[in-house]
Amino acid sequence: MKILTTVAEAQSLVRSKARVLVPTMGALHKAHAELIRVAREHAGRDGEVAVSIFVNPLQFEPGSDYEFYPRPEKVDEEFCRNAGVDFLFRPSAAEMYAGDRSVFVEESSLSKSLEGKSRPGHFRGVCTVVAKLFNILAPNAALFGEKDFQQLAIVRRMVHDLNFKIEIIAVPTMREDDGLAYSSRNQYLNLEERKQAAALYKALCAAANASKKSAGAVVARARQVIGEVPLARIDYVEVVDAITLQPVEMAGPGSVLVLAVFFGRTRLIDNIRLE
Ligand code: PAF
Repeated sequence: MKILTTVAEAQSLVRSKARVLVPTMGALHKAHAELIRVAREHAGRDGEVAVSIFVNPLQFEPGSDYEFYPRPEKVDEEFCRNAGVDFLFRPSAAEMYAGDRSVFVEESSLSKSLEGKSRPGHFRGVCTVVAKLFNILAPNAALFGEKDFQQLAIVRRMVHDLNFKIEIIAVPTMREDDGLAYSSRNQYLNLEERKQAAALYKALCAAANASKKSAGAVVARARQVIGEVPLARIDYVEVVDAITLQPVEMAGPGSVLVLAVFFGRTRLIDNIRLE
């Protein structure tokens, strides 16, 4: 596995075969292993699987966990090696962002709601870094997990609007045995919070199976299940259109139930598609 830390090194790699990128912020876990597995499937035996690890300061709003975000460099490196990654791009913040930078990539519609509302500037940071990674690593395809549903929709929109010739591949959410979606932030949870966090997936399933299909009833059912665990503090629970991310009145095919919930200082997100 090649490890690259500078933009110049990464851009000097000539792409002679298919290259599939898995962009990450590190602290790699089973869901990343799944992304890498699917990336290999798409790249084929002869293609290249590239992973980027970059804790992107631009997507952390002030007062959030940028400084504390886990950065287990050696463990992540081993993880990638064992997963059969061909090259790992791991730049520093100074390498990615010049002090006098003045160009950003901003999606101006889908980013207004949900995560964008709770975390101002977050998607501007995501779009800017993803666009840079696309330009630096020149992949044919890139993979994103469906857990970050809004991120996926926004990246797709960016690729469409800015004509990146890159296929965006969505990978279903990976879950622990009790249903909690894998996330690097799960490790912030204490034992009791971790136990109670299983309520999120329980709430999503209960609401998705509710007989009443008005968005209000579906949201109320999810809130009720989450309300049963005392450590949960809801940021939002909404039913939105899967493409426009606008609120809908009736839950059903084409809509998705999304939520963000705090356990202590840890903010978790999850979603489920409705039928
Ligand atoms: O989903 C993430 O881990 C990040 O938002 C991403 C896509 C790697 C951009 O920093």
